[in-house]
Formats: sequence, C-alpha cells, structure tokens
Amino acid sequence: MQDRPKTNRNRRRPTWKGATLSLVLLAAVAFAFSALTGLAWSAGGSRPLDPLSTAPVPEPSNLADFVVDRSAAVALGKAFFWEMQAGSDGITACATCHYNAGADTRTKNQVNPKGAPFFNGGANGQLAMADFPTHRLADPDNAASQLLADTKNVVGSQSIASTKFDHVVPGSAVEAGVPVADKVFSVGGNNVRQVTPRNAPTVINAAFNFREQWDGKAQNVFNGVNVWGDRTPGAKVLEAPSPD
Ligand code: HEC
Repeated sequence: MQDRPKTNRNRRRPTWKGATLSLVLLAAVAFAFSALTGLAWSAGGSRPLDPLSTAPVPEPSNLADFVVDRSAAVALGKAFFWEMQAGSDGITACATCHYNAGADTRTKNQVNPKGAPFFNGGANGQLAMADFPTHRLADPDNAASQLLADTKNVVGSQSIASTKFDHVVPGSAVEAGVPVADKVFSVGGNNVRQVTPRNAPTVINAAFNFREQWDGKAQNVFNGVNVWGDRTPGAKVLEAPSPD
C-alpha cells in the first residue's frame, strides 16, 4: 500500500502511437481511479497515464471512522490472507485458492460437474493437458466449425468437504461439525472436497476493480453485509464508537 501523493503531479498529454493493449488497460485503470476519487478528466482531454505503481490504492474517505490504526489494519489483512485457520477445516486460507499470482493453478479435484458426469474420470480427478480446451472446435478461429468436444463441467476451485457446522471450538483451528453425505463430491462413500463452479481469478490489483468476480456482481463498496455494495439499501457496518 502506498500513501496518497501530497501534491498533484504534472499530467503529460499521451502520444497515441497505436492503441496497444497495455495502454488501453492502463487507461481503464486510470479511469476507474479517477472516477473513484471524484477527479474529472481535464477539459483538454489529457489523461493520467502514470504507471500503476504510482496510483494510490483507493480508500473510503471515512476509513478513520472505523479503523483506528491504518497500518496495523493493513498488516492484519496481509496476515489474514495467509491464515489457514480462517477455513472451517483449519487448513484453508484465502491464499489456498488465490496462491499463484493471486489465482488458482491446482490441477487435482478442481472440477465441478454442474449436474453432468465428470469429464475427467470422476470426483477428485486429476486434470490433464488433453482436457483443454474444454470447448474444442475443429478450427479454433472459426466459431462455426465442427464441435469436437464440449462439457457442462467447470474447472473451479476446491474448498471444504460437505459438513454441517456445529460450533467453534475455542483454541482449535478446526470447527466442530458432522460430515454430510455428498452425492457428487465423493469417492468410495467418502466425501472429498467440494469444488466451486467457478475458478478463482487473480486478486492482484483487485483493489482497483469497480466490480469483482467473473460476472461483476460484487461491488467495490463494502457494505458489511453482502457483495452487493450500495445496491443493498439499509446495509450497514457495525461501528464501535468507543472500543475497549
Ligand atoms: C475455496 C476457494 C477460495 C477461497 C478460500 C477464497 N476465494 Fe476468493 N475467489 C474464489 C472464486 C471461485 C472466486 C470467483 C467467484 C465468482 O466469480 O463468482 C473468487 C473471487 C475473489 C475476488 C474477486 C477477484 C476479481 O478479480 O473479480 C477477490 C478479491 C477474492 N476472491 C478475495 C478472497 C479473499 C480475501 C479470500 C479470503 C478471505 C478468498 N478470496 C478466499 C475462490 C476462493
């Protein structure tokens, strides 16, 4: 995290020598940032195309109303990302699914069949190179060409085995619960980890996103209740005016 710059930097007019992908991406991020912070494009049309590393991480203007020690909160957040006790089985952190460059590259037990048979052998299966692409055309450049292979299955991210939560055990990383027979994620009558029907996208630079998740449903506004941000009227964050 970086501190906000104390002064405005000079904005140079960019020379548009061809619309490269990186330039477009950078402009999108810069646009997102300027909209977030309420900055408007200058009348002359010049755009803030600074490196992303110089863009301050957008924060709520009233953060101090809720967080007493900002740097302690940042350290806590970083530690929490790697904290395996966050998972109810005591060994699942955010980083379990968001490990490689913030994304998920695990290859075993990563398929959600979406109601169809497993296309890679069965629950807890190992993915192979030959399984990809999952939608295969005779000519990849021609959408109208013959369909060679397709599946309803989705390569997702494995999580926790089907369990009915009972209670938290003080001092223990593992929550108490009873296994619930799983008809899908099961091998030889034993539950294996369930798999989400979506793959974990990278979380790197997610702070700059307006909308999170593959369908964009999660908003960048934290409402303390759900992913819908300010689209949930009445949602609020609990504030402790005089915490101990
Ligand atoms: C069991 C695997 C799993 C764990 C554990 C997990 N995530 Fe995710 N995460 C996902 C999946 C799958 C998605 C995509 C969901 C969707 O698009 O509907 C996602 C999406 C996200 C996104 C949105 C990224 C984007 O570009 O849209 C963020 C941010 C994120 N997770 C942060 C976290 C944090 C922080 C934690 C820990 C508190 C966490 N995740 C734990 C699987 C996981």
